[in-house]
Amino acid sequence: MIKKCLFPAAGYGTRFLPATKSMPKEMLPVVDTPLIQYGVEEALQAGLHEIAIVTGRGKRSLEDHFDISYELEHEISNTGKEKSLSGVRHLIDQCTFSYTRQIEMKGLGHAILTGRSLIGDEAFAVVLADDLCLNLEGDGVLAQMVKLYEQFRCSIVAIQEVPMEEVSRYGVIAGEALRDDIFRIERMVEKPNPEDAPSNLAIIGRYILTPDIFELIEQTEPGKSGEIQITDALMKQAQQGCVLAYKFKGRRFDCGSAEGYVQATNFCFENRHKTHPVMTASPQLKAV
Ligand code: UTP
Repeated sequence: MIKKCLFPAAGYGTRFLPATKSMPKEMLPVVDTPLIQYGVEEALQAGLHEIAIVTGRGKRSLEDHFDISYELEHEISNTGKEKSLSGVRHLIDQCTFSYTRQIEMKGLGHAILTGRSLIGDEAFAVVLADDLCLNLEGDGVLAQMVKLYEQFRCSIVAIQEVPMEEVSRYGVIAGEALRDDIFRIERMVEKPNPEDAPSNLAIIGRYILTPDIFELIEQTEPGKSGEIQITDALMKQAQQGCVLAYKFKGRRFDCGSAEGYVQATNFCFENRHKTHPVMTASPQLKAV
């Protein structure tokens, strides 16, 4: 059974400057809820109660968000505003939170390796909170992937079809179709030019990883940008055994970019009573 969910959240968020100069990208609010909270809600809905967060310099507000704020809570107690904190309160009650710090930002692979001390020797989920994933029709994306893991018992990456001209922003896969929504990965290319891309199936920020990934990351040399890519370690894992790619059900918004962030905000405002899977929507937002 998967119990732990790792949130690499140490990146600089340079695509969202100046907003992210002194504030973590993961704390950007979509309507009234920070991105990281949507991610933890998705993890809890998937049955993952142990939340592990890789932080870095300037990310203290992430820890404060998942803690009690006595003064504020005293101030709003017995008022209608109390309910506004019931969502995050529910997460604090249901989950445990542990943190470790990435000292040098050497890429996503390195951030995941930094989380090893919090994960240990078991399979775990990874959420990149700036990819906001929502499925209004049923299970969230992580819950879908956890079910798949119970069946296949190997690493799984979430994928989506993207326009060919956008493949250079993603890791892209090629593989054998086992079902119309599941592929056994044969090739992965990080940020290819459209002419070199093996497909338009792009990896997005949801993973289930088996613990042998840590050794494989350790053996991975930094890529072109000097960063240790998780894609390289996953490619080795695919060659040695099996890594699946899963075309999930639902919507995904790239909230690390202004365009995706605005789309997510509009979508969440329009659907604000349905976007929080494990709790009721914010009572402060009235229907318009
Ligand atoms: P991104 O590629 O989105 O990088 O990282 P970034 O630094 O956050 O943002 P930009 O591109 O400069 O705007 C994907 C995820 O990996 C984490 C980020 O916090 C984000 O959740 N990450 C990335 C780390 O935790 N450490 C790193 O060294 C790099």
